[in-house]
Amino acid sequence: ASALRIFTQEEVTGHRSLEDGVWVTYKGAVYDITEFVAMHPGGDKILLAAGGDLEPFWALYAVHKQEHVLEILAEYKIGEL
Ligand code: HEM
Repeated sequence: ASALRIFTQEEVTGHRSLEDGVWVTYKGAVYDITEFVAMHPGGDKILLAAGGDLEPFWALYAVHKQEHVLEILAEYKIGEL
């Protein structure tokens, strides 16, 4: 188990491709979702949020406002901003 780390916004912004890793933030937490990209039911659209915050995209795609989606996200948490 890895300890919770604190990341800067710059570190998150530096992870926005499958090569460098795909990180996103949500409500102040940081997630490495690289492994989830290929499993996403909404396909490559998920990469629009790479290196940034999920909130504006999830506001547009309300399908994410469900407990089971947050449970998936929680699996990929690596730290906080
Ligand atoms: C659907 C997870 C980011 C667009 C879904 C579903 C899950 C999911 C579990 C299926 C929901 C259901 O039908 O019950 C995630 C996670 C994300 C993420 C964990 C981030 C880590 C995004 C982003 C976008 C997006 C950033 C758009 C820019 C969509 C769309 C669908 C979808 C359009 C509907 C696909 C369909 O039913 O045809 N997502 N999503 N997702 N997602 Fe995401």
